[in-house]
Amino acid sequence: MNPFDEIIIRENTNSVKYDLRQLYFGKKEVIPMWVADMDFATPDFIQEAVKKRALHPVYGYSIKPKSYFDSIITWMGKRHKWEVKRKHIAYSPGVVPGLVLALMAFTQAGDKIVVQSPVYFPFFNSVLDNDRQLLVNKLLEKDNYYTIDFADLEKKLKDPKTTVLLISNPHNPVGRVWKQWELEKMLNLCKKYNVLLFSDEIHSDLIFPEFKHTVVANINEDAKNRCITFMAPSKTFNMAGLSTSFLVIQDAEKRKIYEKTLEAYHLGMGNIFGNVALEAAYNNGQAWLNYLMDYLQQNVDLVDCFLKKNLPQITFTKPEATYLLWLNCKSLHLTDKKLQEFFIEKANLGLNSGSIFGLGGSGYMRMNIACPSSTLKTALNQLQEAINEINL
Ligand SMILES: Cc1ncc(COP(=O)(O)O)c(C=O)c1O
Repeated sequence: MNPFDEIIIRENTNSVKYDLRQLYFGKKEVIPMWVADMDFATPDFIQEAVKKRALHPVYGYSIKPKSYFDSIITWMGKRHKWEVKRKHIAYSPGVVPGLVLALMAFTQAGDKIVVQSPVYFPFFNSVLDNDRQLLVNKLLEKDNYYTIDFADLEKKLKDPKTTVLLISNPHNPVGRVWKQWELEKMLNLCKKYNVLLFSDEIHSDLIFPEFKHTVVANINEDAKNRCITFMAPSKTFNMAGLSTSFLVIQDAEKRKIYEKTLEAYHLGMGNIFGNVALEAAYNNGQAWLNYLMDYLQQNVDLVDCFLKKNLPQITFTKPEATYLLWLNCKSLHLTDKKLQEFFIEKANLGLNSGSIFGLGGSGYMRMNIACPSSTLKTALNQLQEAINEINL
């Protein structure tokens, strides 16, 4: 049996995805296809490393050893052809916390931060909850394929109050792996208007074979100094519950500023299990990740074939990265509220409503397909039955 086919019971493990269904959807039976974690086992080499550390009876304060940094450096070198030095790596207890810390470190209250919607919705709150202003550079969409509206982006970067462009690279939820020229163009505009570029690259290891991730900070000398890169093994290896991630900041002055903020909030310690898990992931993860991507590709193809054959009303472009599908449901002609109700009540499925991803998200649903294909088939059949019912 393919290990990714195994159904793992996650109920009653305090899982957000499973155990908050009643609260979020008002119904605990929905097949959960929302929160971006996977229903697959975290790889055994990570489990073993955590268990080994857990067997030592003292869980006191701990440091990050040289081997921790080496594992990141080697992974970045091999996987992304990016030369990272130990001194460039700064800790954060999660990518979103890292984003918030960087916003506190590099911007002032009232500054304007540009995001590209529809986008991972905590970007909005990271900005607004911290008294910064949001400028939305809506992505362009044609036939379910998304590109950047550079003319609008320039207008927003030109605003003297704009200090940061925050991108999702690759992009959640639209699934684009930004091409090098797109990133270069964004960088050049940031340079022109003296804006920092925050690049959230948490999904950068989950790239489908025909595509290539470009670390934006690795493009040229200016990028090195202008970019703050946010990375983590959490999405790749299904270990988000360990709250372990890091930033790469190549500019020494900026690194000092970030570290000062991290220390000011006393958040630099991390946790012993996250540290060993990260190291195990990056030292051993290459082959496992290849199997994972094969499986995810099969799941994407499964949805693609199923929808084309049975539900042509729902369309999408196969993602270039991530296990999140951005389903265009506009031809069902339902309001966002009704669409969400339809998925919950009629199809018994728990997806994220596209509307929470901001401007451009209306009429879409985000479906997480990182689950055994048998679960995915059940979900698709439920959706078909529900749609057949409304078409009667
Ligand atoms: C683009 C993006 N950034 C950050 C996160 C979450 O990161 P963390 O849990 O480390 O805060 C996610 C999770 O879905 C994401 O999609």
